[in-house]
Amino acid sequence: MTGSSESGGSLPRFLLHGADYNYEQWLDFPDVLDSDLVLMRETGVNVLAVGIFSWSRLESNEGVYSFDWLDNCFDHLYKNGQKIILATPSGSKPVWLSQKYPEVCQMTASGVRHPHSGRHNHCRTSVKYREACVKINTKLAQRYGTHPALILWHVSNEYNGMPCFCPQCIAAFRTWLENRYKTIDTLNAAWYTDFWSHRFTSWQQIFPADPSIHGLMLDWQRFSSDQCIDFFHAESEPLRRITPDVPVTTNFQKPDVGLDYHKFAQHVDIVCWDNYPEWHRTGDDESAAIKTGFLHDLCYSYLGKPFLMMESSPGAVNWQGVSKKKRKGMHTLSSMQAVAHGSDSVQYFQWRQSRGGIEKFHDAVVTHFGTNDTRIFREVAETGSLLKKLASIAGTVKNAQAAVVYDIQNGWALDNAQLPLNIEKNYQEECIAHYGAFWKMGVPCDVIGAQYIDYSRYRIIVLPMLYMLREETAEKIRRFTEQGGVVVAAFLTGIVNESDLCYLGGTPGKLTDVFGLAVEETETIAEYENLVFKMYGQSWKAFHYSDRVRLGGAQALGKFEKPEDGFPAVTSYKYKEGTAYYICARTEQNFLSKFYKELCIKHDVFPCVPWEIPAGVSVQKRADAIFVMNFNSHEIDISVNEKKYYSFLGGEAVGSKITLAPYDLIIITDKKA
Ligand code: GLA
Ligand code: ZN
Repeated sequence: MTGSSESGGSLPRFLLHGADYNYEQWLDFPDVLDSDLVLMRETGVNVLAVGIFSWSRLESNEGVYSFDWLDNCFDHLYKNGQKIILATPSGSKPVWLSQKYPEVCQMTASGVRHPHSGRHNHCRTSVKYREACVKINTKLAQRYGTHPALILWHVSNEYNGMPCFCPQCIAAFRTWLENRYKTIDTLNAAWYTDFWSHRFTSWQQIFPADPSIHGLMLDWQRFSSDQCIDFFHAESEPLRRITPDVPVTTNFQKPDVGLDYHKFAQHVDIVCWDNYPEWHRTGDDESAAIKTGFLHDLCYSYLGKPFLMMESSPGAVNWQGVSKKKRKGMHTLSSMQAVAHGSDSVQYFQWRQSRGGIEKFHDAVVTHFGTNDTRIFREVAETGSLLKKLASIAGTVKNAQAAVVYDIQNGWALDNAQLPLNIEKNYQEECIAHYGAFWKMGVPCDVIGAQYIDYSRYRIIVLPMLYMLREETAEKIRRFTEQGGVVVAAFLTGIVNESDLCYLGGTPGKLTDVFGLAVEETETIAEYENLVFKMYGQSWKAFHYSDRVRLGGAQALGKFEKPEDGFPAVTSYKYKEGTAYYICARTEQNFLSKFYKELCIKHDVFPCVPWEIPAGVSVQKRADAIFVMNFNSHEIDISVNEKKYYSFLGGEAVGSKITLAPYDLIIITDKKA
């Protein structure tokens, strides 16, 4: 089942500018609600996400509903020209529900039921919780499904894969395992249970609380993620049935919440995510921008389609160790970065800052100061008017020729593994380092999972630390390379199969012939060591991990110095029509930048502009719009004299030099209007 096959209608063809609107927090303040309508028009906000945490207001006791206030909210917003994204309220359950049906609360591995508290913590298997969600969601779909303001269902909020060990979840897990393995002996083989005498003789013996059985842990994570997708389907069923023309989504987060988003994305109509970068946190906004670009491209790549940035903060958040306000320009820059990478929206948490509760110090479009005369408000309004002018970008796609594989399940397997070096595995950071080399060059780069993706659309595929290499992925890489693709793998790739069992006979397992080498062992590099390798006539640092390889046809492009003297550090091998490169160690960013620059030149992959991009500047292309974004805290001059450019918005010619103020951007095009 894919998003498109299930798809309801489509979204409007303009860029959305909006916010979470927690209307119910202001019901006793009609003046505030009235002034919101005026302020929304002033910011160019055209969509509001409502009802996200409204369950206790909508259903104050089982079967006791009050929709009047939400009716008013719909009508006010509609008359004011705004569209509505309606949430289902399952992200936070009402206390009566937990008290009446304690099974809706999660249970710890020691069998203790969590008390009712917080949010995002319901049992995803509980029959009672599912029933309660279906009931309230049915009411919402019946009442608002045909309202002309409604454009999208926002199912629940920020689902996560937090495990629940209640009897219903454990029973469902055992059934999931039976479906997967059919016989207990197949499971024993997959989980290697002869180690430490862990053999199982019945499904009933299995309990997911033993970190020493990696196959068990990985399957438990897979199950917890699948169960969440199943829950999403259960609570979406009335929406799909009653309002087949309204698209359905849920808001994803960063990919570290225990959900396999590559898989989950196949079940939504449009991918959405909540983006909270740490701007100005370390003094290095370029790194924050690269990481944010990586996460946007990951969201784009889940379905290879535009996504929505469902949340972002118009100012600071209140849950990071140190949350900084955005410096002048950063709000529009950060918002446009999302659009440049494929977002069809800029949305905020939240419209109006809460007076109480745990997020009362989280910035919002309208702060406690309460007026339009604030720095945040003005910057939001400025972003709003820019989004309006960029309407033609909505729905446009990108066509990257390069892709970095960042696979969420591989991250789980690496987290579980006890490696010779455990202190800084840094899987995501490693993927970001490779991605960063493309970002710095202005070469569009997707961030894809190992599954659900057709590799043949790319020219270059990079596999950093793809420790868990499914046989099916190995086969895809083989075909991709033999048909002329360029594949780059970096250390610790192809170590285990899908069941977390090690490949025998040298790694990368199943692909040693494609890379023309076999890794015999992996050494760790301690902090005091200064391991370097030579390549391009220069020395480059290696750290943390270094694979010792035996060449089987591949050529060493770089070699380690003492004490790894003579071992290949970087290799290349012509495999059929394609080329396979192997980078044996973690290395410095400057090396990766040089390596990928040479690689792109050699294999005809081009940046979106032909000129030198200064450090801290990002150039991204979407349709005919080229976004040139300065993430530096200083002004920057860029020489663009090789080609003629025009302002994307005004059409006037851009001179041979672009000067960008700190945190400023310009959108240009090479197509004359
Ligand atoms: C998340 C949630 C919101 C809010 C914001 C605060 O993204 O979805 O409800 O808590 O964080 O940053
Ligand atoms: Zn449970």
